[in-house]
Amino acid sequence: MRISLQDPSLVLLIGVSGSGKSTLASRWFEPTEVVSSDACRALVADDPSDQCATASAFAVLHAIVRERLVHRRLTVVDATNVQARARRALLEIARHHDLPAAAIVLDPPVALCERRAATRAGRPVEAEVVHRHREQLHKSLPALEQEGFARVYLLREHADVDESTVTREPLPVDRRAVAGPFDIVGDVHGCADELEELLALMGYRLEGDVARHGDGRLLVFAGDLVDRGPRVADVLRLVRATIASGAALAVPGNHDDKLARKLRGRNVKIAHGLQQSLDALAPLDERERQAIAAFVEAMPSHLVLDGGALVVAHAGMREELQGRDSRRVRDYAMFGETTGRIDEHGLPIRIDWAARYQGHAIVVYGHTPIHTPTWHNRTIDIDTGCVFGGALTALRYPEMALMNVPARRQYAVPARPFLATHPDARDVAPEAPLRSPA
Ligand code: CTP
Ligand code: MG
Repeated sequence: MRISLQDPSLVLLIGVSGSGKSTLASRWFEPTEVVSSDACRALVADDPSDQCATASAFAVLHAIVRERLVHRRLTVVDATNVQARARRALLEIARHHDLPAAAIVLDPPVALCERRAATRAGRPVEAEVVHRHREQLHKSLPALEQEGFARVYLLREHADVDESTVTREPLPVDRRAVAGPFDIVGDVHGCADELEELLALMGYRLEGDVARHGDGRLLVFAGDLVDRGPRVADVLRLVRATIASGAALAVPGNHDDKLARKLRGRNVKIAHGLQQSLDALAPLDERERQAIAAFVEAMPSHLVLDGGALVVAHAGMREELQGRDSRRVRDYAMFGETTGRIDEHGLPIRIDWAARYQGHAIVVYGHTPIHTPTWHNRTIDIDTGCVFGGALTALRYPEMALMNVPARRQYAVPARPFLATHPDARDVAPEAPLRSPA
């Protein structure tokens, strides 16, 4: 069995006494990565087998898990975890910290567990307890995935445990190893003419649908590729082909997400230019339309790039949420923060997250059209409303140079007038981050 864990994530070992949890944990994880209920019993009561200390031990265990997840550290819980209630508390902590959870179930033959449990060093565990725990485990096995685990691994045979390998992979949002240089493109909204012109201006050549730069630069699309504009299908083709070639990355915008949901047959309101996308994709066969939905769904909610120095997210990203992955993070990345109230144009009132941003990473975003991109607390909005007759803008990183081409015409009317610049922006680019030598 190949066990692949996302790093960071919360990993629950699940199994009765003697199933091999602690053995697996010590083989594949650093001692500091493993939080065990026995160790927590010892911490609070000087005795790893003191069952009277269980409540306090789990209070400590949960606290350690929480603090480790604050620090984005992979954390393995070594406890029986056979009861749904015990797992739910841990899943809730993972969700609260916007990190995925994985379950590794150890379920070797019960006779083996019994034998091991009876001869357990320090505290023999009675067969009756092993059986009760095993029953609880088996009751919850069928619905384990629905409890909220992103991944479930089931080790049934003795050999499963002994011959399993555990590897780690970064979360999809974690592209810190990719250092650029990047050209980050704001909201395209189907404006393929302007996109092609901007790419040419920056030195890209089109080979078929693939945009390539001789210097190995990477394109990063900040979302909202679709809706409102005249050439949605062409934009999608170019971006998909360039991503497939390895020369581009993209994050989803709220418009891309809504189109994908519509293509999946969900009931969404046709508004804000969605009809233009549906018309543009109508000639495609159904398989191709589903491939477009899958393409959007596969995009990481946001991107952490260049060793963590650069973040790209459609509507912005608070520092605490950077590098995390959850429904909430995806929603934040696509929609930003809103007050829950509606303005006089019938649109949700947005909260200015950038005004409060104190993070270290530079955050490049779009979503809110402005006339002139300006730096504000190491953030910059590069949506210059091309589809509304503004311009299509790219930020070159690490040069911090802005490039733009004017819209050929106004393709759509904005529901609210767009801002001149960020309300209290400074027109000074932050220093390109110092890079530590490789
Ligand atoms: N063991 C083994 N081969 C394995 C796994 C475990 O021989 N593949 C042995 C261990 O050496 C240990 C015993 O089985 O003596 C119990 O394994 P352990 O990992 O301690 O089981 P846990 O699931 O951690 O049991 P508990 O809940 O009681 O801590
Ligand atoms: Mg153990």
